[in-house]
Amino acid sequence: MSDRSLFLYALCGSQRRVSTSRRLLEALRDHAPESISIEICDLIGDLPIFNPDDEGERTPADVIAMAEKIRAADGLIVSCPEYAHGIPGGFKNALDWLVSRDEVPFKPLMFAHASHRGDLVLALLTDVLSTMSLHIVEEAFLRLPLAGKTDEAQAALVDEAAQDGVLRTSLERFRRAIEERAG
Ligand SMILES: Cc1cc2nc3c(=O)[nH]c(=O)nc-3n(C[C@H](O)[C@H](O)[C@H](O)COP(=O)(O)O)c2cc1C
Repeated sequence: MSDRSLFLYALCGSQRRVSTSRRLLEALRDHAPESISIEICDLIGDLPIFNPDDEGERTPADVIAMAEKIRAADGLIVSCPEYAHGIPGGFKNALDWLVSRDEVPFKPLMFAHASHRGDLVLALLTDVLSTMSLHIVEEAFLRLPLAGKTDEAQAALVDEAAQDGVLRTSLERFRRAIEERAG
């Protein structure tokens, strides 16, 4: 297994204070191998509504900050709930800001999913992100059903997944795919 340091940037589709999607990203960050660092994006909730008139020289600073992190990242992790059989508006808005930019095409991406439901949003995101030319690494997919559970039950599930190596296994699969693509 390689020890090359990887930087992964994590995008959360929920703005909820006690979001289970975010908790899963935090679990990945906190239990990642030493050579993988994960930063969770905190900008998505602050982005203005996308307007193509505001691209180019008028691009908002938060969009540029998010895009620069994406440029620097070896890969992206997306954890996103399903809202009304769709992608949460705030998250789709963040993706819309990235569509015409050059940071995302061919960037490797893995899904971390915190619900036993929500398969439709995974399919929708796969379509949108593939259209944006991201490379989805299916073998790294991680599902940990934290949604709807008490705080204690969530903590127990995270502990169990960490002990079983489930979190690290997904990250190592993601790393392998990233390194294979990098040659
Ligand atoms: C407004 C709203 C709409 C939702 N619609 C769906 C849905 O269509 N399908 C589904 O599986 N879950 C749906 N859910 C449940 C969320 O996807 C689920 O609670 C998710 O895990 C919440 O993620 P979070 O804890 O990261 O905020 C909905 C939740 C909300 C608040």
